[in-house]
Parts: sequence; structure tokens; C-alpha cells
Amino acid sequence: MQIISDIQQMQSLTGDFKRAGKRIAFVPTMGFLHQGHASLLREGRTRGDVLVLSIFINPIQFGQNEDLDRYPRDMERDCRIAAECGVDIVFTPDAAGMYPPGFQTGVTVRDISLPLCGASRPGHFDGVATVVTKLFNIVQPDLALFGRKDYQQLAVIRRMVQDLSMPVEIVGMPIVREADGLAMSSRNAYLSAEQRTSALCLHRSILKVRALFSSGERSTAALKQAALEIIGQEPSVLIEYVEFRDGATLAEQETADHATLLALAVRTGQTRLIDNTVLGEEL
Ligand code: PAF
Repeated sequence: MQIISDIQQMQSLTGDFKRAGKRIAFVPTMGFLHQGHASLLREGRTRGDVLVLSIFINPIQFGQNEDLDRYPRDMERDCRIAAECGVDIVFTPDAAGMYPPGFQTGVTVRDISLPLCGASRPGHFDGVATVVTKLFNIVQPDLALFGRKDYQQLAVIRRMVQDLSMPVEIVGMPIVREADGLAMSSRNAYLSAEQRTSALCLHRSILKVRALFSSGERSTAALKQAALEIIGQEPSVLIEYVEFRDGATLAEQETADHATLLALAVRTGQTRLIDNTVLGEEL
């Protein structure tokens, strides 16, 4: 496994792979890898001849009062997990290389970036779309894998790739959960034991909504009420949003169907957690 920080070196390797007809699978991350990332890497390993993992904590997708400075980091552990998953190249650019002085270009995916996390984190998806575009230009992957826990991020990237005719297949992978149902996230590392227990209300509310949907409830107002009641039982958990949206367009829905997305965002202490489910799909 090679570790490369230099953008030009990565680009020149990418050129070699392309000329040799290799299929490049790519997993972009911000590091502090967990089993969710490992599932992307393992899938990437089966689909590509070359597997590239990027680790880059992208400053431009963080708001001013967000957790950029304290975002968890552990490069040694990340490299161990990467090696176990069969990664060929770990690409670790630095911020000065990615955003050199004078940098002034950005990618905006308009409407689909606005609701949900886009409303509470203005500019976040511009930062994501811009860095993913840069990473795609450097790594030139044939396919790139993203977790469905960041459902809106995946939708934004799919839209961008389609709109800008980027020659990359986007693969969305299922959410990986801890045994007790908590969706895996690098930010779970911030949680105290009590906060972690309270955070389980996200999964409980998802199970409740799915059960109601299975028994025939289609009113998103009623489904939302059920979710709010469960989360409301945890006084330390503040709700940012509980929304029902069309799984493809993210348009609001009054009547749920099998493609309806339930998207949730909460805060406990300083930590922001998100989760989601598509009502007609497996959990
Ligand atoms: O999902 C993430 O880890 C990041 O948003 C991504 C896609 C690597 C862009 O910085």
C-alpha cells in the first residue's frame, strides 16, 4: 500500500493506471475510519483493479462554528484498516495543496443542496461538491463509493455527476449500524456514554416509523408525530429536523410511499448526528 500526499504524484499514477487499462475504484473520506468506511472499501476492492482511499478533512465544508479543529484523526489506525481492506493507495493531500492561494472556484448543486442538512449547514454541500470534483479530477475514478448515511450528500453527488457529465459511476452503500442500532459515524467518537445511549432514539424512531408504514400508515404528519414523540423522550437530544422527502428529488411529501426518505438530524451536547431510512427498502 502506497501513501501519497502530493497531488501531481497522484495524478501521474492515475495516468499510468488509465494507460494500463485499470479500473479505478475510489472511496473519498475524511478519515477516522469505521466499519461503514470498511464496507465501502471492501466493495470497492471487488469492483476495481486499483483501490484508492482519500483521507482529507475538507475545511470548506465546515461552517465557522463547526468541528473542523476537533474532527477526530488517527492516521495510523486508518492505514491499518485501509491495508486490511486491500487499499492500494491512500491519498492524503493537505489543505494548502487542495486550496492554494488565490483559489476561487466552487461547485454548487442548487436545489437539492438547500433543504435538510443544507438548511442547517449553509454552504456545506458547496464545499462537498467542490472537493469531490477536485478529488475526481485528481484520482479519475471509474467508480466512487459513498455511504447512504449521508443520504443528501449522495443525492447531491449523483446530481452533480449527471449534470456535469462526469464519467464516474456512483455507488451508494447501505448504512452500517452498531449492534444496538446506532449508525456508524466518525462523530460518534465525541459522544459520552450517556449521550450515546440517548442517541439510540434515532434508531428507535426509525423502527417505529417503519412499523407504522408497514401497517398501512401513509400520512407523513402522523409518521412524523410518532418519530417526534420517541425523540422527545430524550431531554438531552435536540431535534434539528425530522422530515419526509421523496427519496430521489428530496421534495417534501404529505403521503408516504415506498421511496419516501425519512431523514433525521439531532444534536446531543456539541455533537450533531444524522440518520435516515427509505421506508420501502431494507434497513
Ligand atoms: O463523507 C465524507 O466523508 C465527506 O463529506 C467527503 C465526501 C469525503 C467530502 O469531503
